[in-house]
Amino acid sequence: PDGLAQALILGEEFIADDDICLVLGDNIFYGDGFIESLKTSVQLVKKTQQAIIFGYKVSAPQDYGVVEFDQFNNVVSIEEKPTNPKSKYAVVGLYFYPNSAINIAKSVQPSARGELEITSVNSAFLESDNLKVELLGRGFAWLDTGTHDNLIEAGQFVQTIERRQGHKIACLEEIAYRNKWISARDVLELAGPLAKSGYGNYLLELIE
Ligand code: G1P
Repeated sequence: PDGLAQALILGEEFIADDDICLVLGDNIFYGDGFIESLKTSVQLVKKTQQAIIFGYKVSAPQDYGVVEFDQFNNVVSIEEKPTNPKSKYAVVGLYFYPNSAINIAKSVQPSARGELEITSVNSAFLESDNLKVELLGRGFAWLDTGTHDNLIEAGQFVQTIERRQGHKIACLEEIAYRNKWISARDVLELAGPLAKSGYGNYLLELIE
């Protein structure tokens, strides 16, 4: 409630001695190769103890944290919702941090909008030369659902893909089943109470 960086403080006990991945609940990430990229990031944080964040080109960067690059594509600054954005690259709501991010978050002061900004945490990593910004390409979809308009747009995107392919995006039961974390019997059981809905039928078809 007091800003994204507070998540690292509230989550301290849960995080314990682990490295951290913070994902914003109103962000949608969709694209081939994404799982690999997540796995690589986990390994990279472990190995380098650097923070890894992701940049994505958008038409309205002023609504986001914005990355500034120099002529050699090095990251020079990150600004939160700047009036005059220094690039079109927004920072997406997916952050990989070493455990030290907790202490950094504790030292963050509230911004002009009264929030503990995650951008302040990222800037601290940048200042100590411990920030890696990876760019997500234009073939990848990063969607935000934090306003009424972009929630509808994201819904339309998901509907379009799901109808075209006949696959659901991010069906948790399907993911668990395909990864062999749960059995066909588990899926049937989970589908039971949902049998009359499209979602339940989808689960049943998965097993058939
Ligand atoms: C937050 C972050 C911002 C980031 C965005 C991604 O914005 O502060 O840096 O680009 O999430 O969705 P907010 O949700 O607070 O508007």
